[in-house]
Amino acid sequence: MDLLEHQAQELFAKHGVPVSRGRVATTPGEARAAAAEIGGRVVVKAQVKTGGRGKAGGVRPADGPDAAHDVAAAILGMDIKGHTVRKVLVTEASEIAEEYYVSLLLDRSHRSFLALASREGGVEIEQVAAENPDALARLQVDPGAGLGRPEALRLAADAGLPEEVRDQVAEILVRLWDVFRAEDATLVEINPLARLADGSVRALDGKVTVDDNARFRQPGHPRYADAGATDPLEARAAAKNLNYVKLDGSVGVIGNGAGLVMSTLDVVAYAGERFGGVRPANFLDIGGGASAQVMADGLEIILGDPDVRCVLVNVFGGITACDAVADGIVQAIGMLTAPGETIGKPVVVRLDGNNAPQGRKILAEAALPGVISSDTMDGAARLAAELAGKGA
Ligand SMILES: Nc1ncnc2c1ncn2[C@@H]1O[C@H](COP(=O)(O)OP(=O)(O)O)[C@@H](O)[C@H]1O
Ligand SMILES: [Mg+2]
Repeated sequence: MDLLEHQAQELFAKHGVPVSRGRVATTPGEARAAAAEIGGRVVVKAQVKTGGRGKAGGVRPADGPDAAHDVAAAILGMDIKGHTVRKVLVTEASEIAEEYYVSLLLDRSHRSFLALASREGGVEIEQVAAENPDALARLQVDPGAGLGRPEALRLAADAGLPEEVRDQVAEILVRLWDVFRAEDATLVEINPLARLADGSVRALDGKVTVDDNARFRQPGHPRYADAGATDPLEARAAAKNLNYVKLDGSVGVIGNGAGLVMSTLDVVAYAGERFGGVRPANFLDIGGGASAQVMADGLEIILGDPDVRCVLVNVFGGITACDAVADGIVQAIGMLTAPGETIGKPVVVRLDGNNAPQGRKILAEAALPGVISSDTMDGAARLAAELAGKGA
């Protein structure tokens, strides 16, 4: 999960990384009150989960409460790279002498963590890396040992930071490591890390990605989830503990096992090329059990997606054999429809693996209207893509 800047700053402050005072506002009136409380010149900043807010006009100074009101009125509701601004951060304006860059990230290819620092901050780091790679220093961080002061100082020196700020930057890097480790982050980034006119160094922006797999030991993190920004179907699926990801096509996909579901997406997209570019509408893995309730929950989510024109259920029977899955499908459809009613959208079912013939027999005998069996994965995908293409 990516955090908003103000949430990142909250975690920075918790671990002693110096940040500016700020308040979140959702209306121009709140922005005015926030500016009055902070006092002096402020900066009003769009809170959206994308970079380049400054360039897009989402970061603007204001000379006092009334100006903050007007600037917030202009920024709230703005669209920045497809993200609607619903909140702004009103923060004290700093007099910036220089802008640097520091980050810590999970470096999957080296199975390690990486610390980065650059004397060229305030611009996109990808641009620095491409145009001026010497300005970007890297350091592998040993996951066991962590990032200590000597290594942090070396990184600051390698990045060509002025001598007089290296101590402060090293201290910030060590505390940033605390944020990274203690909060189970996969990325923490400060851009710009600014040297102010008075010589002090502080984080003027913040980006944090926390690892959702660590949620069980991070009771404080769920409050960072932005309910308004999450897809409503994904939110409903999450509430039912389903592994569901919304995609942009029209074939709803349910399968058991992440690998099978991912290959089903590929096969549907491939088959869909022949029917005008039909694509999968979602990823949904109902896992090994595939009970009637889980099947009903999955079908309900998928059928609730107005983009779905056809559903493909692709199950490979293992420990849970195909006859149990077929029973589950029949019961699930029973749960979702009143007697005599049909499910409304065609459902193509492919059962293979353990007890497949028994499973197919159960489906054939149930003779549910709109439910079509197909024996192969390719055949099922082609049929589903064709039906979805026709429905368009
Ligand atoms: N509190 C602040 N005081 C003064 N200038 C700021 C402040 N916050 C941001 N800026 C300036 O605005 C630029 C863009 O802001 P930033 O928070 O980095 O947003 P983004 O990276 O999304 O463009 C910064 O590089 C900095 O020059
Ligand atoms: Mg920035």
